[in-house]
Amino acid sequence: MPSFVANANQQTDVLPKGVKALMDNGLVTIPGRYVKPPSHRAVKHLIVPGVEIPVIDMAALESDREKFVQTLCKASSEWGIFQVINHGIPVATMQGMVHGVLELFDLPIEEKMKYYTEEVFVPVRYCTSMTPSQETHMEWHDHFQHYFSSGFHEIAWFLGYCRRLASSYVSSVRHLSQTLMSALSEGLGLDSNCLAKSFGDSEMILRSNYYPPCPNPDLALGMNGHTDSGGLTILFEDQVGGLQARKGDLWYDLKPIKNAFIVNIADQLEILSNGKYKSIEHRVLVQPDQTRLSIVAFCNPSRDAVIGPLPELIDEQNPPLYKSTLYQEHITNVYTKYLDGKHSQKLQIN
Ligand code: OGA
Ligand code: NI
Repeated sequence: MPSFVANANQQTDVLPKGVKALMDNGLVTIPGRYVKPPSHRAVKHLIVPGVEIPVIDMAALESDREKFVQTLCKASSEWGIFQVINHGIPVATMQGMVHGVLELFDLPIEEKMKYYTEEVFVPVRYCTSMTPSQETHMEWHDHFQHYFSSGFHEIAWFLGYCRRLASSYVSSVRHLSQTLMSALSEGLGLDSNCLAKSFGDSEMILRSNYYPPCPNPDLALGMNGHTDSGGLTILFEDQVGGLQARKGDLWYDLKPIKNAFIVNIADQLEILSNGKYKSIEHRVLVQPDQTRLSIVAFCNPSRDAVIGPLPELIDEQNPPLYKSTLYQEHITNVYTKYLDGKHSQKLQIN
């Protein structure tokens, strides 16, 4: 166990213990706090079935880099979300992580509650929904969140079984993010290290989301619609499904592809690219009879990086569409508000 324990001095009996605990106790109807107002529920006629979200084949990078860059750039501009196949990360590493993460959620509730906190900048966080004390309508998921910046590496993953695997998973995912960021830089017509340079000493957060079955799936949401506040998000999910991406007023299902990653552009890449790459809004639906698990790696800029449109992209015809902001300030703004909607729009100049 690490020396860090979030809840040493809090009265844990007054804190929400999470939706898994509710279901483990035999809940048959969701409590009022989880019932979304009609305006926030998923409406069937606004969901488009059967449209293919782009699939990026990493093997194509070797054979024709230019074409790969073009395909990636198109997916990031038109959608801001895509699935990645042939990424080279061993299936055993991914399955091992799923196994380890399930063990974390299966810990006795008293163990998990030692890490319960609404604080964002802590090395290890267990929480349910986003910031329960500020929300009128909670989300139907629990999560663990671990910071992986240099220094936190060893203490961050506190379950012995998973520690070594988590390190190798994080290095593999970091490598994948660097490869994608290089290609995304080239897609802007810039040197391949341009975006990475703007990120500075980048930070990775690993967040595991656990969505238990929900007795009233039409009334609740696993996660509200939101954009991710960081740079690039790399998500691994099981085969249950429920993640949706928004374009205009419509929501598109992401159909799980076995052992693929789902990658989405987040706010800081939209800003750096001056709006060329789109930070896509996404949400998660819940299922009546299945638990869903996702392991999400947020590849983010350093907190002291100042992020604004890259100067190389700005001229008279292309004025900056976003303000420059300290990344730390951006996340503080996001996390002190209820997560609902697209954050980068709030930074837009007009
Ligand atoms: C997130 C997120 C989606 C999922 O954690 O930001 O969008 O499928 N998760 O868990
Ligand atoms: Ni997200």
